[in-house]
Amino acid sequence: MKRKIVAANWKMNMLRSDAAGLLNAVISGVDFPLGCDVIIAPPYTSLDVARNILSGTDLELGAQDVFWELSGAYTGEVSPSMLIDAGCDWVIIGHSERRAIFGETDDIIKKKVEASLRTGLKVILCVGETLEQRNSNEVSKILSSQIEGAVKDIDKKYSTDVVFAYEPVWAIGTGKNATSGQIEAAHKIIMDDLIAHFEKDAHNIRILYGGSVKEDNIKEILSIRNVDGVLVGGASLDSDSFVKIIEYAGV
Ligand code: PGA
Repeated sequence: MKRKIVAANWKMNMLRSDAAGLLNAVISGVDFPLGCDVIIAPPYTSLDVARNILSGTDLELGAQDVFWELSGAYTGEVSPSMLIDAGCDWVIIGHSERRAIFGETDDIIKKKVEASLRTGLKVILCVGETLEQRNSNEVSKILSSQIEGAVKDIDKKYSTDVVFAYEPVWAIGTGKNATSGQIEAAHKIIMDDLIAHFEKDAHNIRILYGGSVKEDNIKEILSIRNVDGVLVGGASLDSDSFVKIIEYAGV
């Protein structure tokens, strides 16, 4: 069985002092060694605070976005090598908020994925449909085109460095999580697409679910076929909830 992942996407929350308080509370709440992989993705401004607190533990550090060039005249951007320099192991790419608010296309996402993997970062690649797309029966088409768009030139050797997160846009931050049937069907579509690209190596790839994951639905979500972990937004900002999610995932 694949080791589960619990990833925290803090989004644009937490000043540095809040970040320290939250991480210290999480670390003192969980049992070591962890029974699952835990990744914390704070905003850029708290990466160093998080790195210092997480060092010496087996929790890993991630960023929420990245640019695809390694250096140069790209005001405001942060490169994969800068993230590694800041202590990151992981980066989240293609989150629906980046697609919707910042206009990220599959082509932009593909460049970010390629540059990150080539530089040595591991990637959590987010895919998911809007409510409108679900209501027009386009789930399979959307997921397949997002996956194909991002991985078409990715070498199979990266299958162990990339994780997919199925995040239905309508379930993010809304308190409405997808039903078990909807999650199972979407994860099967994703796995079939991954097999088409990565062939047998696809079976090493972990697929996370994200969208209103909480301590009271984590058990059910993790029992669904092809769900290898969760990407948690709101509930990762509360240490008690997040510790409970880690505990459930680790058993
Ligand atoms: P949520 O966010 O858990 O607050 O719904 C998940 C995400 O956007 O990654």
